[in-house]
Amino acid sequence: MILISEDVWSADFEALAKSFPIIREPELWRNQDALRGKLSTATALVVRNRTQVTRDLIASAKNLKIIARAGAGLDNIDLKAADDHGVVVSAALGINATAVAEQTLALALALSRKIIELDSSTREGQWNRKAGVEISGKTWGLLGFGATARATAELLKGFNVRILAYDPFAKPEKSYLDSLNCQMSSLDEVISNSDYLSVHLPATTETREIIDSKKLSTMQKSAILISVGRGEVINEADLEQALRDGVIAGAGLDVRAQEPPTDKRFTDLGNVILAPHIAGITHESQAAIDRVLVSEIRAALSGGQQSHAVGAIKQAK
Ligand SMILES: NC(=O)c1ccc[n+]([C@@H]2O[C@H](COP(=O)([O-])OP(=O)(O)OC[C@H]3O[C@@H](n4cnc5c(N)ncnc54)[C@H](O)[C@@H]3O)[C@@H](O)[C@H]2O)c1
Repeated sequence: MILISEDVWSADFEALAKSFPIIREPELWRNQDALRGKLSTATALVVRNRTQVTRDLIASAKNLKIIARAGAGLDNIDLKAADDHGVVVSAALGINATAVAEQTLALALALSRKIIELDSSTREGQWNRKAGVEISGKTWGLLGFGATARATAELLKGFNVRILAYDPFAKPEKSYLDSLNCQMSSLDEVISNSDYLSVHLPATTETREIIDSKKLSTMQKSAILISVGRGEVINEADLEQALRDGVIAGAGLDVRAQEPPTDKRFTDLGNVILAPHIAGITHESQAAIDRVLVSEIRAALSGGQQSHAVGAIKQAK
């Protein structure tokens, strides 16, 4: 049986259901005991980012062959435990990069041209022709230079920007960097020189709250920060203060330290646009991800090869 513990479904899963029994419970992630019970007979588990796939859970799922993660980021899956128990973890990494890049640009453009603010005032009958700023000709900083950052850099080709990127683990070819008008730089250089700073970092012990009041104070007063990686990378209290004090000009936050947030932070600030972790979610990216996952599950359950395994186990037992 294939168990889907979150809101994942599409025509591809519909087709899969003709070959394998599927239990689909979009709210199951909320109840770890119920999840454990259902998983005891499952051969495949499909999750987004809410199901906590812990070592305990994996150990209790004796028939489990594959965990399929719809989306990028593996924070909610104990990959080492899956490796130890011989379970394949497949994820469609990088497939939603274009979607994230478009949302990054959308947030930057909306903040630059005050689109939300002027939409509200125009609806209220005002005719407030407030000048915005242009992205063209500016410096754009990327923190992290993986799939989503590169997709953003590709889109920025049309904007004639200079790009600075910080990622000590990435080793891009010089010709590729040149094609993007991009230069790899230090963290401090990227932060202090950018008119736009988009954050594409995963949450790790090194990146947690890497953006704090100290770093924010080195940014330009006119700078716009876009956060589309993981919310934990930013100290939100420090960012809120910086936005109130005019240390930076604005922020677009797709991801938050706590999701969904239980506080009202940022909600009264006109220089912030908030989004519900939606950057990677478009009809196109979801369809592409589901196609990959369904093919991985089919292969895992019928002795075939997995091509999107992200852990040490590359072939289902
Ligand atoms: N908002 C969304 O909807 C959405 C969608 C996709 C991905 N994400 C998240 O965005 C993050 C990036 O996604 P991606 O697809 O670009 O991932 P990726 O793995 O392709 O790239 C991440 C990059 O971060 C770099 N990195 C890791 N630790 C670093 C550090 N300490 N300092 C500097 N660089 C470091 C890595 O070298 C890598 O190049 C992930 O956490 C992912 O979960 C969010």
